[in-house]
Amino acid sequence: MYVCLCQGVTDGQIREAIYEGCCSYREVRDATGVATQCGKCACVAKQVVRETLSDI
Ligand code: FES
Repeated sequence: MYVCLCQGVTDGQIREAIYEGCCSYREVRDATGVATQCGKCACVAKQVVRETLSDI
């Protein structure tokens, strides 16, 4: 599922960034570019990061 349409970032890519070492929303944003344009996806992106971090 696409979380960020501006940058074409999926929830899978966000999870992958975390599995590869990102441990905060900020790091995921820097690594994937999620929420760096219109910012509308920030809420959902943060939620995916939170859920993924609490799973590992
Ligand atoms: Fe993610 Fe616009 S949808 S920055």
